[in-house]
Amino acid sequence: MRKMNVAIVGATGAVGTQMIKMLENSSLPLGTVKFLASKRSAGKQLSFKGETQTIEELVPDSFDQIDLALFSAGGGISAKFAPEAVKRGAVVVDNTSHFRMDPTVPLVVPEVNPEALREHHGIIANPNCSTIQMMVALEPIRQALGLKRVIVSTYQAVSGAGNLAIEELAQQTRDFAAEKPLDEWEASILPASGDKKHYPLAFNALPQIDVFAEGGYTNEEWKMINETKKIMGDDTIRVSATCVRIPVMSGHSESVYIETEKTATVAEIQELIANAPGAVLEDDPSQQIYPQALNSVGKKETFVGRIRKDPDEETGVHLWVVSDNLLKGAAWNSVQIAETMYEMNLFE
Ligand code: A2P
Repeated sequence: MRKMNVAIVGATGAVGTQMIKMLENSSLPLGTVKFLASKRSAGKQLSFKGETQTIEELVPDSFDQIDLALFSAGGGISAKFAPEAVKRGAVVVDNTSHFRMDPTVPLVVPEVNPEALREHHGIIANPNCSTIQMMVALEPIRQALGLKRVIVSTYQAVSGAGNLAIEELAQQTRDFAAEKPLDEWEASILPASGDKKHYPLAFNALPQIDVFAEGGYTNEEWKMINETKKIMGDDTIRVSATCVRIPVMSGHSESVYIETEKTATVAEIQELIANAPGAVLEDDPSQQIYPQALNSVGKKETFVGRIRKDPDEETGVHLWVVSDNLLKGAAWNSVQIAETMYEMNLFE
């Protein structure tokens, strides 16, 4: 194929910035690369492969001559502009939740369900960050042992909420260091920018990510529940989630409890993880080796450790799963989807 022209929508954002880095090191044969953001950023400059590039304002015609558009500028922008990009002949990889549960849109983690890419109609959805890393860890176990049930509690980093949320946490941390009284700390974004109340995240743990929905679960929790079933192609897996934001900059951690069909020893499960694509086993309690958010930053893999059998349930297993939410959870998975499609000749 000729060279591919690529557009990054939301190029100034927390995810968009990482998409640029992933693209700089990608195996895709790049032609022109366009950097799109809001009017506020138009005209600003950034560096790509050592060359200065100018950010352009996103408009429908931005997608003329574009082969691949990576979107990460919020669900509303994807709803409006992804169809415009497809109309002009681009393939869209969308990092927002807008199209994820649309039955005509593949929801893909390349290590798990790359074949779903063949069914695309122009838009491919990148799953939720917390779901992606859990899929990388659980798919090898599902394949070998079967998966009946998942109960996950997340410890999610602030970068998943975007650059403004990162700045808000940094400011609250400075306020704490300056011994400013708690009621003077500013909180206007977290836990969910669209919700009524806002709370500080610094030195706190907020059991709300996104807004509340059916059954007392948040949208983030429903995303983990519904996306797991769609990606694994199995509606019978029982899934429940509690999603918590913690004051970590990047790197989501998850305590995952599963029940499998067949039983296995810890050593057998460790071996499954050690041989799984995209996963790295970090599991040696005797040496205090386990995955940590700080160590995951800048890496594409998903790290798995603390693997242990449930004391009471024979098929029950606990795992600790960590990955860089901006990379495997977002920018890398998106670029990896594009690379996988290229290898499968799906851009022809
Ligand atoms: P901008 O920086 O110009 O506002 P984050 O997830 O870190 O909050 O970033 C959101 C991204 O979405 C930014 O790149 C932001 O660009 C972009 N964005 C927000 N609103 C629009 C819009 N109306 N049109 C295009 N891009 C937008």
